[in-house]
Amino acid sequence: MQIAIRSEALEKLRGDLAVYGLAQAVNGDFRCDNKAIAEFLRDCGVLSEFSGKKGESLLLYPPLKKKGSSGSSGFLSQRLLLVGLGKMNDLANSDELRELCRQTGGIVAQQATRVKAGRVVIGLPTAPGLSAPEVIESVTEGALLGDYRFAKYKKNDPENEAYQGMAELIFSVPELRADLEKGMRAGQVAAFAARSARDMVNEPGNGWTPSHFAEHGRMLAEKYGFAYTALNKADMQRLGMGGILAVNQGSVEPPQMVILEYRPAHPVATLLLVGKGLTFDSGGISLKPAAGMEEMKYDMAGGAAVMGLMEAVGEERPDLRIIAMVPATDNMSGGAAVKPGDIITHYNGLSSEIVNTDAEGRLILADALAYGIEQFTPDFVVDLATLTGAVIVGLGHHRTGLLATDDDLANRLLAAGERSGEPLWRLPLGPEYSKQIESTVADMKNTGGKSAGTITAAAYLQKFVGDTPWAHLDIAGTAWEFTEKSYIPKGPSGIGVRTLLELVRGWNKEGKKGRKRQDNQEKRKK
Ligand code: BES
Ligand code: MN
Ligand code: ZN
Repeated sequence: MQIAIRSEALEKLRGDLAVYGLAQAVNGDFRCDNKAIAEFLRDCGVLSEFSGKKGESLLLYPPLKKKGSSGSSGFLSQRLLLVGLGKMNDLANSDELRELCRQTGGIVAQQATRVKAGRVVIGLPTAPGLSAPEVIESVTEGALLGDYRFAKYKKNDPENEAYQGMAELIFSVPELRADLEKGMRAGQVAAFAARSARDMVNEPGNGWTPSHFAEHGRMLAEKYGFAYTALNKADMQRLGMGGILAVNQGSVEPPQMVILEYRPAHPVATLLLVGKGLTFDSGGISLKPAAGMEEMKYDMAGGAAVMGLMEAVGEERPDLRIIAMVPATDNMSGGAAVKPGDIITHYNGLSSEIVNTDAEGRLILADALAYGIEQFTPDFVVDLATLTGAVIVGLGHHRTGLLATDDDLANRLLAAGERSGEPLWRLPLGPEYSKQIESTVADMKNTGGKSAGTITAAAYLQKFVGDTPWAHLDIAGTAWEFTEKSYIPKGPSGIGVRTLLELVRGWNKEGKKGRKRQDNQEKRKK
């Protein structure tokens, strides 16, 4: 999709659909900056079906500019979509306003699909409390996220062939400015990164195997100049990665540990990201029930999120060293599969009693965390995983579970989640919970009983991160069927990509400021 910014008034831009955002009317009166639309609305009279409430939209057919006429009145677009923005003044903070803009972008994408509009032109009012570049950023992000479709496997779908989404999105602004372009670009980068994560998650278990993660990693490395490594089964055996090897035992599909490293010239810190890349989770010998098992193709959404993030990192090149790791395998029940009661040894030497082969995510993450921390000595570690059904019981599909050993990192992630419209909720860790995974025969066991399943899973991971500040995001509830929103179509949400991107952007900005301060201090000294 092409996105552009133009300085013509909305009615002077030709599109299949013109969109205009309106704040809620006060006493039946819309405060409308666009003269042509204000006039048209006045001519329409009172519209009982549209008052500009948040989420409302109304499709109108405005008077067209007459062909060949030199007069200035009339619209160049055939359709005019009004989108309600609600009482914008009520919104307390910029995070809420960003979300409103994102959702507006999502509505634009939905309505464009409805009328099969290829070229969409859009005008927006100024939002109190949000800068114009931020408005453009968030609307772009929402429109691109909302316009997502996955039709790769639909070989015979005439409707699909007829309309393949918006081809062009054009913003009408009062004047062209470089910062508006920058905002548009930021929204584009974030949305494309999340969309590529969605593409991976949409792929079935036979369409996205561990080798696909490796191939994709290599492609990103080539495109953006990252260092690339993929540990294969023999490497894992040599290194003693007993966790991922155990999970892979029942499968004919070889495992991979994909590692990408982005290293800028002057990094302010090193961040290690680990994403669970379980390409299909049957449960193994502790087999899952048949109903809904097909959904377990999304058990690699954490891996998809860190891969998606690296795409954005490659585009934006922040001053932060970032390592992305994806331990990838499926969890099958072949003849050689790991059995309940088996004892394995992880990369860091700790032994573990496998009580339930369906608690496999922690096993592959444990090796990745221990290895990654040893290899890269990061300042911070964040892992993302569709780790427990328990997080859905606790938080539903509306918030990602967050568990962390470091308050500063936890708070950064909470803030990044709010800013990106991917909210998190923190749960505790502690010795009481760690006690639940004590084993009588090994250093630990891989399940902690019925209660606090999300926390005991994190307690397992905690044994592999040492003193390095660490946060774990349990995205089992939000990676799929995330809160229904206009910019999140049914299916994979791409969760985590934009949270991580906001984390990185925030850090980068702060680092740059810190560095400037330092430079100035040094200058003064001289
Ligand atoms: N991948 C699942 C967790 C999951 C469940 C993700 C539902 C998405 C939706 C994970 O590997 C798993 O099976 N966890 C078990 C752990 C239990 C056996 C201790 C679970 O949550 O039931
Ligand atoms: Mn499982
Ligand atoms: Zn799993």
